[in-house]
Amino acid sequence: MASGNFSKKCASQNTNPTFRQHRNDSVSTGGLTGIKLRALGWRTMILSFHCSATKMKPVMRDVLRRRLHRHKRRGGANQANGSDVVSTPEATPTSLTNRDSSQAMKMPRQRHLAPSGFYHLEHTAISECACAGLACFAARADRPDLWQIAATQTPALYCLGKCYDAPSDGMHDIRPHVGQHASQPVLLGNVLRGGVRDLPTYRGDGAALEKARQMAPQALVNMVEASRLRGRGGAAFPAGIKWQAVANARAQTKYVVVNADEGDPGAFSDRFLLEDDPFRVIEATAIAAHAVGARRGYIYIRKEYPEAVRVVSHALEQARAAGWLGPTLELELVVGQGAYICGEETSLLNALEGRRPEVRPRPPQISERGLFGAPTLVHNVETLCAIPWIVTHGAAAYAALGFSNSRGTKLLSLNSLFRRPGLYEVEFGISLADVVERLGQGLRRGKLKGLMVGGPLAGIVPPTLLDIRLGYEEMQSIDCAVGHGGVIAFADDSSIPRIVAQVLRFGARESCGKCTPCHLGVPVLAAMADAAANRLPIDADRFRRLIEALEATSLCGHGRGLAEFVQSVRRHYPSELQAWCD
Ligand SMILES: Cc1cc2nc3c(=O)[nH]c(=O)nc-3n(C[C@H](O)[C@H](O)[C@H](O)COP(=O)(O)O)c2cc1C
Ligand code: SF4
Repeated sequence: MASGNFSKKCASQNTNPTFRQHRNDSVSTGGLTGIKLRALGWRTMILSFHCSATKMKPVMRDVLRRRLHRHKRRGGANQANGSDVVSTPEATPTSLTNRDSSQAMKMPRQRHLAPSGFYHLEHTAISECACAGLACFAARADRPDLWQIAATQTPALYCLGKCYDAPSDGMHDIRPHVGQHASQPVLLGNVLRGGVRDLPTYRGDGAALEKARQMAPQALVNMVEASRLRGRGGAAFPAGIKWQAVANARAQTKYVVVNADEGDPGAFSDRFLLEDDPFRVIEATAIAAHAVGARRGYIYIRKEYPEAVRVVSHALEQARAAGWLGPTLELELVVGQGAYICGEETSLLNALEGRRPEVRPRPPQISERGLFGAPTLVHNVETLCAIPWIVTHGAAAYAALGFSNSRGTKLLSLNSLFRRPGLYEVEFGISLADVVERLGQGLRRGKLKGLMVGGPLAGIVPPTLLDIRLGYEEMQSIDCAVGHGGVIAFADDSSIPRIVAQVLRFGARESCGKCTPCHLGVPVLAAMADAAANRLPIDADRFRRLIEALEATSLCGHGRGLAEFVQSVRRHYPSELQAWCD
């Protein structure tokens, strides 16, 4: 009986038109009307969330178990996430080389070849999914049954932003530890307070928009430039230069877009800013829009964060009623449908336009021709959340924080392998050893194999290099990256070959298909890596050449980043990957 009710609720979630915002593939909707959130859809969703959170936990486990059995019956281990479960049997070493090998090996299914379209969560209720992200992979020995489900379910889902309690699923959640370790708290004040979801409670903190609207736009641009704030979405581009470029563009219409796609497995900082401090996100977006002359904006939130979608939607209503939005700025919420590549800003703009969200070649830069051909400012949630503080306290106060060319504070997400996992605000300059020992309080079990900082396109920092200080150039100097600040500790039960295979499998799955080296090359690399991790011989020369081609010729940071990841890991763990690239 309970199970019947559950299915019905999930079905209503799935079929409700407001939950299928993005139509398909190459069909242009010619605008955004089809992807607006409507009241009926929200009521349905809130109801189903309420029910699921309060009553359905045991039923959810039944659903997941049934899924697992269904997959097992269908031989489901051969799904997108492959067979890399905790108890993967070592394959019998037989010779597999060259082209034959990639055909015989399991090729991960790619998004753009998926029969149902580009997005893989279009018809999926998040509450029914288990997470196959890298933090869950790192912790797979802690809940092998749940990982087994995640690794074999269709569609694969790569991060639910619950890496502090991994392996995780869409139904259960706990509140992580939140820690403030900067000399000035810039970002986490309201998160530390447990979240501010009503405007009257936020008001005291919300004077920045009023102040900013009384300032000349160019003064705001100058202020952001002087603060030395760099983009937190991964590219670390100076925010002031971007603001100036959009402000300088001559156009009737300009857009500002909030990138809340947070697809990097291991990171959950944007999720908590959206859920616990939505007015800061809205206030910051309104300030940015005023500075660059934009009158329309979009907040694009991934479907994997249903609570963030609910909270921000409600906050937008309140902000509108309070006059924050209205004639000066129209701000709309758009919900993704499951595609890591939509975090890449040009792909994100295509998604907003209702096009197939492939990466766009550049030039033109989006500051000249972005959304619907108009100058567009795209920012990550964390970058934007620093803006109200800068307006209130001044550029110099912000620039005084941090070190070297990395100024201000940074959010770090620590995964469940730490004794004290959670969300931390730190100043740039903290050493990785301090992150592990002081913030995370060491590993809960096992010996540290390596630290993945900044997502799957960054490298893995070996334990011997933990004295490096957190900074963009400093991390680059060891072939790693700050990225989005997800910190995944791998213990010695994860071998380096298996981690690389898992990253490449993820990469193949999430390739947008626009350029050949990534579209055709990464699935082959993933299959070869899988074989090598299972101790099958591979054509090492071919592996090396494919990696080099990927690094040199990919259109965007996805393909390039995957290649750089492999190169970085090879450099730091030469003995473990020797056979792959000789
Ligand atoms: C493959 C790929 C995935 C990305 N995913 C995200 C993402 O999930 N969130 C994000 O803010 N930026 C992401 N980015 C970076 C964006 O393209 C863009 O640089 C960023 O949103 C700009 O905002 P910022 O200047 O505030 O960092 C991604 C880039 C690439 C190449
Ligand atoms: S590198 Fe991959 S994700 Fe990027 S444009 Fe090419 S196919 Fe798309």
